Amino acid sequence: MKLKIEPINCLQGSISIPGDKSITHRSIILSSLAEGKSIIKGFLKSEDCLNTLQAFRFLGVNIEEIDNNSYQVTGAGLRGLKKAEKVINCGNSGTCMRLLTGLLAAQKFYSVLTGDNSLSSRPMDRIIAPLAEMGAKIWAEDNKYAPLGIMGQQLKGIHYNLPIASAQVKSSLLLAGLYADGEVVIDEPGLSRDHTERMLRYFGVELEKHKTRVIMPGAKERRLEAREIVVPGDISSASFFITAALIVPGSEVLIKNVGLNETRSGIIDVIRKMEGNIEIVNLSTVNKEPVADIRVKSSSLKGITIEGDIIPRLIDEIPIIAVLASRAEGKTIIRDAGELRVKETDRIKAMVSGLKNLNIEVEELKDGLIIKGPADIKGGVKVKSYWDHRIAMSMTVAGLLADSSIVIEESECIATSFPEFMDLLRIICR
Ligand code: S3P
Repeated sequence: MKLKIEPINCLQGSISIPGDKSITHRSIILSSLAEGKSIIKGFLKSEDCLNTLQAFRFLGVNIEEIDNNSYQVTGAGLRGLKKAEKVINCGNSGTCMRLLTGLLAAQKFYSVLTGDNSLSSRPMDRIIAPLAEMGAKIWAEDNKYAPLGIMGQQLKGIHYNLPIASAQVKSSLLLAGLYADGEVVIDEPGLSRDHTERMLRYFGVELEKHKTRVIMPGAKERRLEAREIVVPGDISSASFFITAALIVPGSEVLIKNVGLNETRSGIIDVIRKMEGNIEIVNLSTVNKEPVADIRVKSSSLKGITIEGDIIPRLIDEIPIIAVLASRAEGKTIIRDAGELRVKETDRIKAMVSGLKNLNIEVEELKDGLIIKGPADIKGGVKVKSYWDHRIAMSMTVAGLLADSSIVIEESECIATSFPEFMDLLRIICR
C-alpha cells in the first residue's frame, strides 16, 4: 500500500499513546502462566501482539476481550498449557518467537513456531544455544532459522554471559528458567529492557537484580498469581511524534501516557543532549513501570555522538533519531549499533538509502551511521519501507518537513506495532 505524505505547517495539540509492545507481549505470556483471572488494560492491538495472543489461545488459554483494549486472561498455571493443534505463527515478531521458544522448551509437548519472511531470516541461534545448554531440544533451519520445532524437556539451570545485550534472549532464558532445576544467572554486557524482570516480580516471582546481572533462584514449586496489568504507552511509538514536533518549526505537543522505564528512555537523554525542548510531567507508576506525559516544542538541535551503554536503551529509536539528526546542526555519529542489521530489516542499510533519497547527507558505518545536518529535505520521491514498520514511520516523519509530498511504499507494515499511527498524526498536524 502506498501512503502519500504531504508537508505540513506545524504540529499542535495533544494525543495519548497506545500500549507498549514489549509490555503487551509479556502481559499475555505471564497472565497465561498465572493462577486465576488477570485483567490487561491498555493492550496494544497491533499485529505482533495479536500473534502472541493467538499463540496462547492455541496453547489452551482462555482469553476474552472485555472492551476495545482490555482482556481477561484465565491463567492456565505454570503446568497447564496444552499442545497446540496447529503451527504457531509469530508473524513478524521476534519477541513472540524468542520468548515463546524459551517457554515451550520446558513444556511436556512438541510445538512448531513459524514466522514471515523477515522473521525467518533473523538469527534464532542466539536463543537456541543457551537453551540447548539448559537441556532444550530445538530444531531449526541450518540450526539458526525458523521454522523451529521444539520438543519440551525438563531443563537445568544456567549461568550465561550474553554476548550482546538482548531483552529477547534474556527473557527467553528467564521463561525457561521458571521450570528449570537450579538457578538461572544471566549477565549482559549492557542493560537491555527489563520489563520481564519487573513483571515477573509483579506476578510474585522471586528475582535478584544487580546492575546487568539477573538471578532467578532455583525453586521446587513456583506460582504466578493473577494480577491487573495496566500497559503504559509505548515510548518507541511516542518517539515519532516527539521527533516530528522537534523538527517542524512552530510545533508544540503534549504526548500523554508514555512509559518511561530507564532501560527504554535513552531517546530522552539524546534529545536533551541535542538541546531539544522536552519536558516530562505527571510522572506516576503502574505495575512497577514509570509513566508520564511529555511536552515537546520545536527546537534548534545540535549534532552529537551516540554510542556505548546508551545503545540498548534506544535501539528501536535509531531510525527516528537519524531523522532527528538530519535537522541538527553538525554531525551526529551513531556507533555500536550493529544489532540494527538483524532487526525486522537491516535498519542501517534501510535508513542510509531512505535518507539519501530525501537529499540528506549520510554515511554508512559497519555498526551505525553518520548524519550531516541540517538538511533541506527534498520531496517528490518514493521511499521504501523494506516492510519494516519503524522505517515506514520514520520516513513518514521526514516527509512532513520535505519541500513537496513523498510516497511511502509497503506502508501496511506500520500495523505491526502501531495501527493508529496515521490517525494520531492527523490529529496533531496543522
Ligand atoms: C524487544 C527487545 C529488543 C527490541 C525489540 C523488542 C523485547 O530486541 O529491539 O523491538 O520486547 O524484548 P533485542 O532483544 O534483540 O535487543
